[in-house]
Amino acid sequence: MISKQIEVFPGGQVAVLSIQNPPVNGLGSAVRAALGKALDEAIADTDVLAIVLTGAGRFFSGGADIREFNTPLTLREPVLRDIINKLESSPKPTVAAINGIALGGGLELALGCHYRVAVDKATLGLPEVKLGVLPGAGGTQRLPRLIGVEAALEIIASGDAINADQGLRCGLVDQIAQDDLVTKACLLGLQVAGSEDGIRRLNPAAVAAPKNPEIFEQARQKAGRRYRGCVAPLECIACLEKTLTTSLDEGLEFERQRFQVLVNGDQSKAQRHIFFAERSAMKLPDADVKPEPINHVGVVGAGTMGGGIAMSLANAGIPVVLLDRDQAALDRGWEIIKNNYSASVSRKKLDQPQMEQRLALIRRAVDYQELSDVDLVIEAAFEDMAVKREIFERLDALCRPDAILASNTSRLDINELAAATSRPGQVIGTHFFSPANVMRLLEVVQGVQTNRTAIASLFSLARKIGKTPVLVGVCDGFVGNRMVSPYTREAHFLLEEGASPEQVDGALQRFGMAMGPLRMGDMAGLDISWAARKRMAPTRPAHIRYSRVADRICEMGRLGQKTGAGFYRYEEGSRNPVPDPVIDELIKECAQASGIERRDISDEEIIQRTMYALVNEGARILEEGIAQRSSDIDVIYVAGYGFPVFRGGPMFYADTVGLPQVLATIERFHAEHGELWAPAPLLKELASSGRKFSDL
Ligand code: 3HC
Repeated sequence: MISKQIEVFPGGQVAVLSIQNPPVNGLGSAVRAALGKALDEAIADTDVLAIVLTGAGRFFSGGADIREFNTPLTLREPVLRDIINKLESSPKPTVAAINGIALGGGLELALGCHYRVAVDKATLGLPEVKLGVLPGAGGTQRLPRLIGVEAALEIIASGDAINADQGLRCGLVDQIAQDDLVTKACLLGLQVAGSEDGIRRLNPAAVAAPKNPEIFEQARQKAGRRYRGCVAPLECIACLEKTLTTSLDEGLEFERQRFQVLVNGDQSKAQRHIFFAERSAMKLPDADVKPEPINHVGVVGAGTMGGGIAMSLANAGIPVVLLDRDQAALDRGWEIIKNNYSASVSRKKLDQPQMEQRLALIRRAVDYQELSDVDLVIEAAFEDMAVKREIFERLDALCRPDAILASNTSRLDINELAAATSRPGQVIGTHFFSPANVMRLLEVVQGVQTNRTAIASLFSLARKIGKTPVLVGVCDGFVGNRMVSPYTREAHFLLEEGASPEQVDGALQRFGMAMGPLRMGDMAGLDISWAARKRMAPTRPAHIRYSRVADRICEMGRLGQKTGAGFYRYEEGSRNPVPDPVIDELIKECAQASGIERRDISDEEIIQRTMYALVNEGARILEEGIAQRSSDIDVIYVAGYGFPVFRGGPMFYADTVGLPQVLATIERFHAEHGELWAPAPLLKELASSGRKFSDL
């Protein structure tokens, strides 16, 4: 766990303690106990003049062992704070030799040292806020005392990491090293041990007030936008504000108490669930299958999705052939790509040479022959089976026999596309989310014949381009869009029953959704789901309730933001939804035509009707094996549908409410609203056996 080496220099001996706890050198209780013991020994060893702390491999330390957060505090002794106190109060100089990634408790350990030397590739951060907690081992109190409250606030409230160079500039890092890291750290320790000035220690008094007294309020507003509905950023800011009025010891006690509240709260539990859920989802489904390299990709269709996919690939340095059926369509797509990159340059997210490099990786083509040598083609053409089938037949005839053919369809049958080719094993779905160059989620859709190598190759590509791949099976809408159907269905029913669009959206936004379902429909374009409803119409039983509200809105030519109107009105060039009395009237007409008596609808009913519709469908998806794990569904909803991370996804949310309670409400809806609410057998089984979705 902790290796100890005594390094001998002309100036004396240094104890080098190295954390060895793969995969990330997490600071679990065994590591803490071993480190505490090694520190005691080094301090007691009269031959040792200084102590250097480093990590094995590419990590200094990835921080506290998050899995331990679920165990009671008494089982976790010694706590990290005790170890950091030892480092800080050591009579011998302590130097952190930061050999790579130092995050959370890992960086807090380094902050407990008197000095820090880092390799130039080091990553330094306090990302606790992303797990719904705050740096609870002194980070909120020591960092501002070291680098000033303004810089510390930025790092802690954002949770974003900085590099060694930035660390040097703000004073977090004292020296940068290359291959000589440990030697440099040892020499620094010996130099201090022998100097008259003695060890540098943090000032335990309150921190100097920032020049701009507004920084805390500004940070709260920024956190409200970025971490909507999350309490942890506000607690981080409160801890930093506290440093202006309290001593280090008082501040540490305040931080400890706030950390304890957060770590036991529902939000952090949900955020930790998502942390591990993402990692499970991203694991190759078959660890023994070797992915084939994908170094050259074709994208068919230069529309919004195709352009975004091409950008995602080019951003990761992968050459792309972007193809459309005619030059005009290609030129339009190319303009959008250029404009998107230019916007990134204006926002300083990219510099001009980087933009040019990326554009140079996208070759434009109208001739399918240009795709004859690529490793993978992603079709992102119009959402119509006949169009897609024709493209697949064509690709099959001209692409290399080992090339993978993927479709970006959001609901169509991958098996039918596979059947149009002579290589069904290499046909797969890659459902990107819009804007594809921004959204992390990628549903990888496995057809009945898709082979394991194709899946592994797509997973490997997804990770390379910074996406979170989740494996799903074939059904209408796969996981994400299939669940959206009952969710929006209930939103439309609630309109007929008495709610207004702004009430439905408002309740769900207050629940934490990035956007309510009606605004989301307007943004995505109402014509897409309209086309799907028309396609499904022949199979829809006549006795099943159906809302005509969305169809009537589309029939008026109101297709959402792009036409300036949908469920709401939009002023020219604005994305702000304005409630429209025309729609209120239309809703009333639809209700009357269906014989529905309108009534007052509570926010609670809106949440239950929409959320439990998601959960019930999610349970069916699990029963059918369309999703591998219930946590995969949570990842899909958090990463792709604006579901609040602090609620952990729909299935985790249901677990939090309690499955017997969710089932009882669904059974009531079943009695009141009919067969669309028949409870999923899996939900019944779990509720009656006292289990949860997360136990599956
Ligand atoms: N605790 C427990 N497990 C952790 C962990 C942690 N802090 N960090 C990573 N892991 C696990 C992952 O779950 C994964 O396990 P698996 O193989 O069984 O799925 C394995 O380590 C490897 O993780 P990644 O796949 O994420 O590896 P990467 O190399 O891609 O990324 C990383 C490494 C950047 C360290 C990333 O894992 C990460 O961001 N970890 C979380 C870092 C963090 O938030 N630290 C703060 C913890 S809270 C804290 O320190 C509280 C303190 O203030 C008191």
